Amino acid sequence: MTEMALTVMKQAYAPYSKFQVGAALLTKTGEIVPGCNVENASYGLTLCAERTAVASAVAQGHQDYVAVVVATNTSPPSSPCGVCRQVLHEFAPDLTVRLVNPQGEQLTVSLGELLPMSFDKTELFRTEQGKSEPE
Ligand code: THU
Repeated sequence: MTEMALTVMKQAYAPYSKFQVGAALLTKTGEIVPGCNVENASYGLTLCAERTAVASAVAQGHQDYVAVVVATNTSPPSSPCGVCRQVLHEFAPDLTVRLVNPQGEQLTVSLGELLPMSFDKTELFRTEQGKSEPE
């Protein structure tokens, strides 16, 4: 997984920030799905590596994940942004998150540590209006 995250980091399309990010998402059934950041001339449209991995995994039929490795060329390795933490949480609140860089530095944390007191879909059913679950 670390190898894949480091390799896919080099595929990132990051001509504006020059900050390349790679992600490798491990599904419960053992697949490893890659993702990288994809920037845009309209800056706000940028997709992060973690979210491209999630989108790709969902498109491949995988919605249960056990771990993600995130690779950056920083020391110490960088941590996922808040948006990506929330998107990962949607599918895998108990996810293990490993941060790596090409120098071999590694740090492993849980998504719960990165996103305490998180908001999730159970909240939607706690209002008077939203008592029934979606189809
Ligand atoms: N980026 C990611 O891919 N993942 C993160 O969790 C943080 C930021 C990307 C977005 C942008 O292309 C570049 O890093 C600089 O913010």
